[in-house]
Amino acid sequence: MRIWSIAPLAASLILASVATADDKVASADVAKGKQAYSTYCFTCHGDGSGNGPVGKTLKPPPRDFVTGDFKYGGSNQDIFEVISNGAASKGGSAMMAPWGAVIPEDTRWALVKYIRSLKK
Ligand code: HEC
Repeated sequence: MRIWSIAPLAASLILASVATADDKVASADVAKGKQAYSTYCFTCHGDGSGNGPVGKTLKPPPRDFVTGDFKYGGSNQDIFEVISNGAASKGGSAMMAPWGAVIPEDTRWALVKYIRSLKK
């Protein structure tokens, strides 16, 4: 096999592996994030302020995405990690469950994008 026949594949693998969290959020489909949010997150996070039917009974309360302040770091990577691995992975509440086994990765990046769009 000649080297240039695999070069495009190698190049795309390298590019895929260096795509940053910010790139993944930038290219994510916010409508997909919104859809997943209403299915999995609304019961606690509600309209984004944490006023969902279950959320308003919780202590600590669900994060308020309208103010946009985060407890476990506010970078796209940090938010993605909390969604994927749960807040307990950062020393927080187990009520914020790990969603990594339930929600596909591209949808989790889309959730990060959607959550950011709720900030007023
Ligand atoms: C059963 C209730 C519940 C559900 C459902 C839920 N969360 Fe949470 N979430 C919480 C609670 C409680 C916290 C606060 C955790 C803490 O302070 O330790 C939280 C915190 C967060 C944070 C803040 C992390 C930080 O650094 O401040 C993010 C982001 C988040 N949730 C995203 C989501 C997403 C996305 C979904 C849906 C896939 C979701 N949550 C579903 C209860 C929930």
